[in-house]
Amino acid sequence: MDPVTQGKTDFALSDRDAVEWLSALPAASVDLLVTDPPYESLEKHRAVGTTTRLKKSKASSNAWFEVFPNARFPELFEAAYRVLKPDSHFYLFCDQETMFVAKPLAEAAGFRFWKPLVWDKLKIGMGYHYRARYEFILFFEKGKRKLRNLGVPDVIREPRVMRGYPTEKPSAVSTVLIEQSSDPGDLVVDPFCGSGSVGVAALRAGRRFFGNDTSEEARTYARERLIQEGGVERPLELSGPLGRRAKGDAGGGDLWDARGPEDDGRQLVLGV
Ligand SMILES: C[S@@+](CC[C@H](N)C(=O)[O-])C[C@H]1O[C@@H](n2cnc3c(N)ncnc32)[C@H](O)[C@@H]1O
Repeated sequence: MDPVTQGKTDFALSDRDAVEWLSALPAASVDLLVTDPPYESLEKHRAVGTTTRLKKSKASSNAWFEVFPNARFPELFEAAYRVLKPDSHFYLFCDQETMFVAKPLAEAAGFRFWKPLVWDKLKIGMGYHYRARYEFILFFEKGKRKLRNLGVPDVIREPRVMRGYPTEKPSAVSTVLIEQSSDPGDLVVDPFCGSGSVGVAALRAGRRFFGNDTSEEARTYARERLIQEGGVERPLELSGPLGRRAKGDAGGGDLWDARGPEDDGRQLVLGV
């Protein structure tokens, strides 16, 4: 099989805490990380009504999800830095409040911050002081990696998803990020995958996807969407250079430990 395109529709989904899950993956095994954590300030938006109008839908029983406290960002960014391959990118969806908290903490974990990208939702939403029309996507780099197309602007114009999973992002936004920062056949991961919007974009672009979410409802919905995209759920082979532990590598979890010290096959098969 062509080593570039083999398994390009493969995906896997896990159900662990995001940091625990990332910590159990081999160091330097992931080509691109795109994620959208349930950051603390979402609760404020929810309180003023910007995210409460979550209709009952296939994806949502109107349940809300646990927030991921800002205090856990250092461990999240260290885990993200460790699993990413050298010379790779990391994109973090967030709002204008979380941006100022997340940026220095991700830099402290080793990332270089390039700039916030703007997701322009094209129409105004709720709010009082200048009604909300955009969100940020923070663009970070580990090592040095060129974007594939230097002509792409830093504003991504795409309407919001109506009646979807709570805070669902349009896959088309992730498509831009994935096509810019990975190659066909690469592995894209999302530790807070929700409806699987990043995974859908990954499969459409011919990349493999490994997602994780603590909500069973989210995983069920994501799985349905990924299969509809022609994805095949099966254990993914992750490869990472043994012995070269990136900054923040605490030694990995059970999966990492399952490998014998003589195992230098550089491949690890993770179950779904
Ligand atoms: C903002 S939503 C992601 C939405 C997603 N980007 C989409 O387009 O559908 C955050 C997700 O994180 C999940 N979550 C909350 N705490 C978590 C944790 N500690 N570890 C993993 N997932 C978590 C929630 O169940 C929720 O689905």
